[in-house]
This record gives sequence, C-alpha cells and structure tokens, in this order.
Amino acid sequence: MGHNQLSITDQRTGAQYEIPITDGTIRATDLKQIKTSPDDFGLMTYDPAFLNTSSCRSSITYIDGDKGILRYRGYPIDELAENCSFLEVAYLLLNGELPSAAQLDEWVAQVKRRTMLHETSKKFLEGFRYDAHPMGMLISTIAALSTVYPEAKNVHDAANRRKQITRLIAKMPTITAYCYRHHFGLPYIYPDNDLSFTENFMNMMWKMLEPKYVANPILARALDILFILHADHEQNCSTNTMRAVGSSQADPYVSVAAAAAALSGPLHGGANEEVLHMLDVIGSKDNVSAYVKKVKEGHGKLMGFGHRVYKNYDPRARIIKRTADEVFSVTGLNPKLEIAKELERIALEDEYFVKRKLYPNVDFYSGIIYEAMGFRPSLFTVLFAIPRVVGWLAQWEEMITDPEQKIARPRQIYTGHDERHVMAMAER
Ligand code: ACO
Repeated sequence: MGHNQLSITDQRTGAQYEIPITDGTIRATDLKQIKTSPDDFGLMTYDPAFLNTSSCRSSITYIDGDKGILRYRGYPIDELAENCSFLEVAYLLLNGELPSAAQLDEWVAQVKRRTMLHETSKKFLEGFRYDAHPMGMLISTIAALSTVYPEAKNVHDAANRRKQITRLIAKMPTITAYCYRHHFGLPYIYPDNDLSFTENFMNMMWKMLEPKYVANPILARALDILFILHADHEQNCSTNTMRAVGSSQADPYVSVAAAAAALSGPLHGGANEEVLHMLDVIGSKDNVSAYVKKVKEGHGKLMGFGHRVYKNYDPRARIIKRTADEVFSVTGLNPKLEIAKELERIALEDEYFVKRKLYPNVDFYSGIIYEAMGFRPSLFTVLFAIPRVVGWLAQWEEMITDPEQKIARPRQIYTGHDERHVMAMAER
C-alpha cells in the first residue's frame, strides 16, 4: 500500500477503497465511487462556508494562518510593503515576477493611459442621489463599464484580457474620486498623469482651485503601502465570488462588480467602516471594558477582530500599525486611536478572545488611518476595493487559463419534501 493513499472502509457495505492523496488533499470526486448500490449517486462531502475545501490550485498568494505568514508569489508581505510600489506589486501578482525597471515603466504607462472614464460613465454617476453609499455607486459603475467595453466578453483572448485588466486597475481610483465628489457636488477632476498612482488618486479626490495639487509624500506612500497590503488574500469571500461568477465566462467587469458586492458586507471588507462606527459608539477609553463585556454576552461582535484563516496575528495589522505612526506624524493623532489601543489591550488579555484566537485584523487600524488622512468612513470599503481589484483579476485570469476549471456549481444535500402533488385550492 502506498503512503500517499487514504484507505477507506465503508462500514455500510464492507467495501474498501484506496484514495490518492496529492498535496495533502484528496479529490472530492474520488469519493463518488463509494456507493451502497449501483444507482447510489456516491459519497459527497458537506462543507458549508468551505471550511476545509480547496476550490482551485493557485500560485498567487500563500497564507499560513497559524504562523501569521502572508506572501505574494513567494515574497513576504513586509518585504513588498517596505521595498515596492503598489503598481510594482500589481505587476508581480498578475505576472508572477517582479518587473525590471523597463517593464515597470511600460506597465505604469499602460495604466496611466487608461485612467480616464468614458464621459457617459460620468453621466451615469450623476444619476445617483447625493447621499448614495459609494460602495453601491462603485459596484454599479463597474458593472456598467461592461456596456462601454463589450469586447471584454472575449475572455479567452489573452491580449484582450490584459487590456481589460489594465483598464479596471486604472479606473478604480477615478470612479472612487468621482463617487466622493458627487456627494459634495464638487466638479470631477480629470486624472493627472504626471503623478504617481496614489498621488493622482489624492489629486482627483481633493484638488480644489490650486493650479497643481501636491500630495503630502508621506501620506501618498502610506496609501501605497495600504494598497499593497490589500492587493490579494487568496480564496476569501470576494475572490471566491470573482472566480465563481467568472467561471460562467461572464466578462471581467460584471465579475468584478459581483466580487465588490461580496466585499461590501460587514463581515468582509465592510468591517473597516463598521470599526469606526463601533469606536464612535464606544465614545471614550473609559467605556471600553463595558463594551467588551456586552460583546462577550453575545451583543454584537468586536468589528476588526477575528479572521477565518489568521488564528495567530494578521501580519498586515502589524505593518499597518507602523504606517499609522507615520501618518499621525503628519496629521496629528486621531482621537479614536486611544480607544482602539485600549480595546486591543483588553481584548488580547481577555480569556474569551484568547480562547477563540481573536486578534485584530487588517481592518482594525486601516479605518483610523484613512480617517486621519481625510477619507470619510463610507469610502473605506471602496478604498479596500481599489487594490483588491488586482487580486480578483489575477485570480480570475488564473481560473480562466486553468484547464481543470469549469463553471462553479456545488452540490447540495436536499432536505425538502419527497414528491407530492398539487391539491385543488379548496382542499389546501
Ligand atoms: N467579536 C466577538 N466574537 C467573535 C468575533 C468578533 N469579532 N469573531 C468571531 N467571534 C466568535 C464567534 O462568535 C464564535 O464564538 P463561539 O465559538 O462561542 O460561537 C468564535 O469566535 C468563532 O467565530 P466564527 O464566526 O466561527 O469565525 P469565522 O472564521 O467563521 O469568522 C470572521 C471570521 C467573519 C472574520 C469573524 O471573526 C467576524 O465576524 N469578525 C468581525 C468582522 C470583521 O472584522 N471582518 C473582517 C475580516 S478581515 C477581511 O475580510 C478583510
């Protein structure tokens, strides 16, 4: 008997099976041969919320949640945050290797060439109410781009795919800034291609009447680092959505819109906005203990705490704390930081949180930094989506070019009625 095999005895029939193990995994379809009779469908696995199911083979991002490790294409996240720009990391995620100087120049030029929005998209944005949530505006506008670029549906054409990927990455900051300015009735600012990716974003957000907007270099770099930290995170809820929708060969715009919709939920990317609401509700450092007590009694969750895969420490949270110090040296301290630090201190000592391995995640501090930089809480999840679009698209392209992938279609365990017949209305 080989070592890389799982021996199974089906106690229902006494039959024995040898199932191959590859990369620490058995194929769920290998279980189909385990039957009680020829017309039995065969054994399935039941895994709500995919707690122990691999849905793909991927060479993009590696996470070891127990050790607190996150790597993009093999590079530790802290080395990338320290040494690279966001667009450099985007190139890495999409192409598998860091760019040379010439490749980076070409890639940055490609992105800059595509930062403008079609004027009809601007008009589309104008149709929203002034107080529309920016995440709803973002999701709808990305989906609407599918009508502007109908050739995007040719998902098996590699060159066409790359064009749409570059467009999406380039246009995310422009859409975000337009959503923000729409709320205030401010004129939209066109992209300025003299500027870096994040400087240009800040320019489109905050330029008023000055002839040239000059972003604070420390804040622009901090934003770049936050974008690097959020660029990919393997098979999370929104990435799984991107892969699932893309598996039907829908175009990348509607697939990204669906992924962004998944991101908007408060248990996922929406958590950064919720953290700020929570800190507002707590109000002061003195109220932290009472708030934590309420959470332990089952009244809500501590937003920004806990993670499906990190059961040690979110490595991104550590880098974010360093970035926070740099931002606050420019903006002054955000008063909510004091409450957040006290919350972290109490929670990390408390048996409830220790026992459940609940640590601050990436969103615990990102909102406080974004607020200090001048972003409104309703924009926080959009700020998450800007860089995450890179991860979604890298994962989507990996899925499209993987010969093993098909349209995503899980099985179910049917728990409803057996066949029954419609009774006449008078008899029901
Ligand atoms: N506050 C209080 N208790 C919590 C929290 C929290 N933030 N998170 C989990 N728990 C508790 C659960 O109630 C559960 O307790 P029990 O065993 O007594 O029932 C236990 O810890 C395990 O929690 P699960 O829900 O099983 O963990 P899961 O892996 O399914 O959920 C999640 C992970 C969704 C991130 C969860 O921790 C959570 O809701 N956190 C708050 C929202 C948040 O910050 N989301 C951002 C995640 S990062 C990102 O998406 C970018």
